[in-house]
Amino acid sequence: MSSRPTSTGPTNTSTNQSWGGRFSEPTDAFVERFTASVDFDRRLALHDLQGSVAHATMLARVGVLTDEERDAIIEGLGEIRGEIERGEFAWSVRLEDVHMNIEARLTDKIGITGKKLHTGRSRNDQVATDIRLYLRDEIDVVGAELARLREGLIMLADREADTIMPGFTHLQTAQPVTFGHHLLAWQEMLARDHERLLDCRKRVNVLPLGAAALAGTTYPIDRHVTAELLGFERPAENSLDAVSDRDFAIEFTAFASMLLMHLSRMSEELVLWTSAQFAFIDLPDRFCTGSSIMPQKKNPDVPELVRGKTGRVYGHLMGLLTLMKSQPLAYNKDNQEDKEPLFDTLDTVKGCLRAFADMVPAIEAKAGNMQEAARQGFSTATDLADYLVRKGVAFRDAHEIVGQSVAFGIKESKDLSEMSLAELRQFSDVIDEDVFAVLTLEGSVATRNHIGGTAPDQVRAAAQRARDALAALSSREGQG
Ligand code: ARG
Repeated sequence: MSSRPTSTGPTNTSTNQSWGGRFSEPTDAFVERFTASVDFDRRLALHDLQGSVAHATMLARVGVLTDEERDAIIEGLGEIRGEIERGEFAWSVRLEDVHMNIEARLTDKIGITGKKLHTGRSRNDQVATDIRLYLRDEIDVVGAELARLREGLIMLADREADTIMPGFTHLQTAQPVTFGHHLLAWQEMLARDHERLLDCRKRVNVLPLGAAALAGTTYPIDRHVTAELLGFERPAENSLDAVSDRDFAIEFTAFASMLLMHLSRMSEELVLWTSAQFAFIDLPDRFCTGSSIMPQKKNPDVPELVRGKTGRVYGHLMGLLTLMKSQPLAYNKDNQEDKEPLFDTLDTVKGCLRAFADMVPAIEAKAGNMQEAARQGFSTATDLADYLVRKGVAFRDAHEIVGQSVAFGIKESKDLSEMSLAELRQFSDVIDEDVFAVLTLEGSVATRNHIGGTAPDQVRAAAQRARDALAALSSREGQG
């Protein structure tokens, strides 16, 4: 099969045999390189083969190809697949892109039948199909990594359901919360990202093939057959739209931007918490690096880098939106610029998720330090105010009384829970012995005992619900 065919049809002297007929001089050497995409769209090769096998199968089904021609094409494409997987395929910039490289090689292998593969098809619907097939597979990989990270967070949250830390607003100590509750807040953000990912997948999973260059084709094609062979939900409704829009890639990049925004916020907290000043957590050495000059340093490089990589993903979102904003229907060469931002977004998202999914279960909480920090900063002041309200004081007056108690505490360097009853009673005589139960950190978190609250029992219940929701979502994954 690999010998050169004896009859491959008309020859031409111009550079690219795919359109030589109309041209009177070869493409300028620089323009050839400038317009080529094979250096990056080679990444679509296996999906290009997958699309071609389905296209040839459909063409035979409707009688445009004979069964023998179909078999020769599929066998040739199979051999090419092997060459690509073994790294033996000779990619050529002169053949511009992944599609023409593969088609030329097929003709090289099986002769004139190879030239029939492109019947009823254009590179315009071909490339749109390839990207959708590729992105659909990648979405499933991203979804699995996201699920792994969520599982890690839920596991850690369950383990740290009783661990008390200061909760912050304005990065100032606000009220005590449990560490498990904080981790489940992260988990909620990722759960919404996961929903967005699977929602985006539905719109990716639509078949462009059959749109041909822009207007459809005169052959009696059956697009439902091709859609089914490739696992697409349905054929795209409109041929002009099918070859031109890339909103599905923008949508994925928007998902990725939101995800990275969330990972970046988590990173920021991890970095803060590993500092000597906070010392809330420890990250295992294998996720950190040292300094070449300061021997004591252990740097949280992984979260820092994830925070940093967020910028390039936002950039790709802006790039893709801008790429599309002025394009008239239908296909324009501009669209060749869709691939690199999308590929880099995928690489970045997969890398960040993998790093986080590996690292999160290994986070070590320094419960003593967290507890100590929560004891500072009068984090149970609101609990004292609520106590006074329960004793009949109006909330505004209670707020004032507690404010005076805090001012006293600052002067005396005493937390509210460290004051004597007599000291507390200077500010209100409704205060009794029972006040100390609400001034402790444990009492404070335990009483926030409702759905969405920080009480340890609520955290454990929320972790179980999160596990169930993740299992339900994961069973939806891969089902278009
Ligand atoms: N390399 C092209 C792309 O990525 C393939 C489609 C080319 N179509 C065309 N009419 N020049 O968009």
